Amino acid sequence: MQSGKAIFVGNIKGGVGKSTLAVYLTDYLRERYATRSVMLLDTDPQGTAFEMMRPLSRADDIRFLPIGDRYDGVSMTTLDGILRRMLSQDESVTIVDTGAGKLGNVWQMAMLCSTVLVPTSMSWTDLRPTIDFIKELDDRKEDYGVLNPHVIVVPNRTSPSQKNFGQLAEALEEVNAIMAPPISDLSIARSHGRDFHGFDAVSGTRFSDEIKRLGEFIIDYVISGELDRIYQRA
Ligand SMILES: Nc1ncnc2c1ncn2[C@@H]1O[C@H](COP(=O)(O)OP(=O)(O)O)[C@@H](O)[C@H]1O
Ligand SMILES: [Mg+2]
Repeated sequence: MQSGKAIFVGNIKGGVGKSTLAVYLTDYLRERYATRSVMLLDTDPQGTAFEMMRPLSRADDIRFLPIGDRYDGVSMTTLDGILRRMLSQDESVTIVDTGAGKLGNVWQMAMLCSTVLVPTSMSWTDLRPTIDFIKELDDRKEDYGVLNPHVIVVPNRTSPSQKNFGQLAEALEEVNAIMAPPISDLSIARSHGRDFHGFDAVSGTRFSDEIKRLGEFIIDYVISGELDRIYQRA
């Protein structure tokens, strides 16, 4: 039985906010849990999340393990080792950021994780591939006869005035996923590279409130083990 939790941030579609949510969530959880170790693993060869979070991290709670189409044996083995070690460690939390595109070798990492967090915009050009991606996850879980990873869709870059997410809820009826509270399209979310100074730097903004709400949702459902209990009962 796993005692740590690993959250895989993925989507076949690029530019949906995987790295943005991975870094803010990591920073939020580190602040929220002074005593837990929150590890960030960046597997995207572009290294966006690693570049953003390295200045805010300890040497031992962030790793850049680029996994591309070719020659990824070393990174894969290292990643597998770290992930398994973290999962066996009580109270640990690991966030894995990934690149866009077919998961390829990274599939086996996704299947080790407690949860896959899937950001998407509300546009059909993002939603269609997002649903296909989740269907692929559903198929693998069925093939292996496993319940994990649970899938949580995060509506990202939503219109700040949008209140009704019925269309997304309807699309998600095709797949086994739950919906997290949305993150609006806000210019402050766009700080990148060296402009990024973490969760504290956006304090007092709507974006900060929304990241906090998402973080608390992850705590209530993933880190507390509540989703595991819900799926085991079903
Ligand atoms: N909620 C948001 N509001 C505004 N801009 C966002 C938001 N989320 C992501 N972005 C911007 O969208 C672009 C893609 O986000 P990124 O996190 O790099 O996506 P991915 O990692 O999925 O490719 C970046 O320029 C990022 O700053
Ligand atoms: Mg990215």
